[in-house]
Amino acid sequence: MRQMIIGNWKMHGLLQTGAELAQEIGAAIGPISDARDVVLAPPFTLLSHLAPLLARHGIGLGAQDCHADAEGAYTGDISAEMLADLGVSHVILGHSERREHHHENNALIRRKVQRAREHGLCPVVCVGESEQQKEDTLAQAWLAKQITECLPRDFDGILAYEPIWAIGTGKAATQQDIESRLAFLHDALSQHLETDDKSTRVLYGGSVKPEDAASILAVPGVGGVLVGGASLSARSFLGIAQAGLPLAS
Ligand code: PGA
Repeated sequence: MRQMIIGNWKMHGLLQTGAELAQEIGAAIGPISDARDVVLAPPFTLLSHLAPLLARHGIGLGAQDCHADAEGAYTGDISAEMLADLGVSHVILGHSERREHHHENNALIRRKVQRAREHGLCPVVCVGESEQQKEDTLAQAWLAKQITECLPRDFDGILAYEPIWAIGTGKAATQQDIESRLAFLHDALSQHLETDDKSTRVLYGGSVKPEDAASILAVPGVGGVLVGGASLSARSFLGIAQAGLPLAS
């Protein structure tokens, strides 16, 4: 299965700086996208501005959230259909920052997943344990609950394992931790989903940097990485996207 590299720009980027960053990444992405799928998820305000540029370079256009309802009186919100209308292909859902700051729960995230699918968007659903739940049995129970409650049984999107303690802290999980968590997640997916588990990509996210990207991308079961901070520089994002590929050596 091809690995996927997603850059989550979060609330960063203006018209000019966003276009410059996307242009710099696009100019160098050719040989990488022969081997891996690359998606950039800028803020909503840059989606339509960057859509043609990213399409030209074969980079997927991702959004960072969508509303659970089709349309309605929701001031400030963005629907899945609006995203599809702009050419968005992927949507990140259930990121821990949205769970924390916008009080999103598993039931709401599941409705968003279904809405996204209805409009042909590929959901990238984030799950992950907190620092307090790091211990194996607690973390496993929490992750299993997130999977069963966020994902419909016919889910056909992407899962991103993002331990909360690793996000934006500079402390990525170790290769061993990622490997054992991913084995657990693949198992939980195969129990929960009607579809064949092997068709579900599971990404790792949390302080991925160019220095450790090759070892993370070599972990068995890793379907790619979701990159936050390091996706805001073309050099570091490209370093991650090409890590471990023959062209990097
Ligand atoms: P980070 O963010 O790479 O800055 O830790 C990852 C994420 O939040 O998706």
